[in-house]
Parts: sequence; C-alpha cells; structure tokens
Amino acid sequence: MRTTTANTLSPPRPVSVEAAPAPKREPKAKALRFFREFVRTPTSMGAIAPSGEPLCRAMVDWIEFDTARSIVEYGPGTGVVTDFILSRLRPGSVFFSIERNPKLAAVLRRRHPGLNLVEDSAANINTICRRHGVDGVDAVLSGLPWASFPESLQVEILDATFRAMKPRAQFVTFAYQLGMLTKAGRRFRKLISSRFSEVTPSDIVWRNLPPAFVYRCRK
Ligand SMILES: C[S@@+](CC[C@H](N)C(=O)[O-])C[C@H]1O[C@@H](n2cnc3c(N)ncnc32)[C@H](O)[C@@H]1O
Repeated sequence: MRTTTANTLSPPRPVSVEAAPAPKREPKAKALRFFREFVRTPTSMGAIAPSGEPLCRAMVDWIEFDTARSIVEYGPGTGVVTDFILSRLRPGSVFFSIERNPKLAAVLRRRHPGLNLVEDSAANINTICRRHGVDGVDAVLSGLPWASFPESLQVEILDATFRAMKPRAQFVTFAYQLGMLTKAGRRFRKLISSRFSEVTPSDIVWRNLPPAFVYRCRK
C-alpha cells in the first residue's frame, strides 16, 4: 500500500490544552444524526458512520502539534476527530473547524461550545484565513469525502488549500479502501500526488466502518 512519491466569523481564539476535554466515545444519538445526514445528503457526507477511534488517531498522530501555530479541520461532522485535535493543541495555537452542513454544525456547537467553528465550505479557506488573521496554515486535517466529489470540487478545494498552506505544511486526510475502486478515489490520489512534495498512505485501518487509510502529505 505504501508509495511515496460564513457566515459567523469570530476572531481567532487560542485553545489551551488544559481547557481541552479528553476524547470521548461517540454517543449513539450523534451517530444516528450522522446517519440521518448521510441519508439526506449522501454525496456531501460520503460515509454512513463517524470515523472510529483508530482512524482518528491515525489522522492526528502524524501532526506536529509542538510546532504548528495554525491548524484547520475540514468537515468535522459530529466532532470525533475534533476531540482528538483539541486534546493535543498547544497553548497559543490557532485552531478552527470548517463545516458546511448546518445541522452537524449545530451538533458540534453543543458538543464544544468554545470551538471556533466556521459554517462554510472548505473551498473558501483563504477568505476564512484572512478574516481570522491567519497568514499561512501549518496543518490541515480533512474529513471531506473526496471520493464523492466531482473533479471540479476536488480541484477547487485542493488548490485553495495548497495556497493557504505554509511551505512544508502538513495535510492529512482519510480515504476508504473501497473508494479506491472508484474513478473519483483514484483521481484524488493522482491530484494530491501532483501537488504535494510527499504523499505517504498509511496502512489500512481495519477497525473502521468501512476500512480506511490515511494520506499524509507535505507541501
Ligand atoms: C465523512 S464525513 C466526516 C466527519 C468526521 N470528520 C469523521 O471523521 O467522522 C464528511 C464531512 O464533511 C462535510 N463536508 C462536505 N463537504 C464540505 C465542504 N465543502 N466544506 C466543509 N465541510 C464539508 C460533511 O458535511 C461531513 O460533516
């Protein structure tokens, strides 16, 4: 498997490690809300269930939280990856999450009232960064369903992200193993390989529904 090759915007609020909650298990009600949103908007959700703990860890473990000053999350959904990010943030770093689905954004606001959550599309990352006074992003953690997106949206979000990132910044995202059978899944791999200087897929995380892996990319 391994190959290398807004509406309401508030000023950035550093989140201290001490204030961050420990990651908690995904309660059934939130998993149900997630599934309902999948039934309502399958292309935008791209998954029937939130990521499991092993996949969340595979996403965050690679990120250099000690040195990253500005961190952005795309597509937090009900906030399973967000929990892990918050528990590892260093004092003084700026973090915000971008979620397009208003219903899931409402769930997330209840889960993390202090979270800097931007209800918008990740395609607007550069405008959002400007409004937050962020001059370059050190790390992007994406939960977006890339294999469900048409090529135009894949390219639009990826190019905007690349522009927003500092040199040598980190980009991490997951993909479902089954998604590699699709044209869009294979196209996404080609797209990231053509843009990032390093792209390293992780081993498959079997303890996830469905099994998935992580792309670790460096600008
Ligand atoms: C597969 S779910 C991932 C949720 C969560 N990160 C997880 O791992 O369980 C995809 C999420 O991306 C959001 N999303 C889809 N398109 C988006 C976009 N253009 N901008 C921001 N969020 C988007 C969906 O609403 C959904 O919450």
